[in-house]
Amino acid sequence: MNESQQVTRGELRYEGKAKRVYAVGGATPDTGQYIVEYKDDATAFNGVKKAQISGKGAINNAITVAIYPQLEAAGIPTHFIRQLSEREQLVKAVSIVPVEVIVRNVAAGSFSKRLGIEEGTPLPRPVVEYCYKSDALGDPLINTDTALSLGWATEPQLVRIRELALKVRDFLTPFFAQRGVRLIDFKLEFGTLASGEVVLADEISPDTCRFWDAETNEKLDKDRFRRDLGGVEDAYSEMLRRITKN
Ligand SMILES: Nc1ncnc2c1ncn2[C@@H]1O[C@H](COP(=O)(O)OP(=O)(O)OP(=O)(O)O)[C@@H](O)[C@H]1O
Ligand SMILES: [Mg+2]
Repeated sequence: MNESQQVTRGELRYEGKAKRVYAVGGATPDTGQYIVEYKDDATAFNGVKKAQISGKGAINNAITVAIYPQLEAAGIPTHFIRQLSEREQLVKAVSIVPVEVIVRNVAAGSFSKRLGIEEGTPLPRPVVEYCYKSDALGDPLINTDTALSLGWATEPQLVRIRELALKVRDFLTPFFAQRGVRLIDFKLEFGTLASGEVVLADEISPDTCRFWDAETNEKLDKDRFRRDLGGVEDAYSEMLRRITKN
């Protein structure tokens, strides 16, 4: 399918908290591709807190659309194909590895709570954590032995996932620093293509990263929603502005 051909939504395959995933329909369906639609819905604390953040879907789509091609250029294979509309993008269909990967530069959130380390404490080397992707269980922390033993990923896949996650970190940390933003931590999802290749999937946005202003440490991410800090829309717009400037 080339750029000039119209891509239309087929059947809804999955509706998550932040996005809808559709098959490609129309005259030229491609079973190797999905259409992802970004919604304005926001949830926190495993779906207990819910709201609409107006404009969030379009902003997170635009942010992901701006970042993924740059990751590709930096040698990180991703699911991204192209933007379709303000809220939609065309991606390669993958089989999602049910292991969420968190990379931390600075202690925050659950890491700080669990280990009693004050939020904002820089980590001398990045920490990669793994969680089982299960809404029912609240995405519990696991280690790689658990993922191997329960058949969620193979050893070569986990090695590749860790390597790619750190590569994403090595690209994004200076990328955001140049835009006056400290990248505190972020969550990634990976999937496998039919060929077996591991690629970065899902999104990178203020929903999935912690961003602090480099000067003031002001939060520019979903913690504004989680912690009722206000100014959620403004923070997301500000991140889009910084990411897409030059
Ligand atoms: N290229 C892809 N192919 C298949 N599935 C994908 C792809 N990219 C992302 N997904 C999946 O699509 C869903 C996106 O929806 P959303 O982000 O709203 O989910 P969510 O509510 O966060 O729930 P989940 O815990 O399932 O991620 C996720 O389950 C994600 O793993
Ligand atoms: Mg999600």
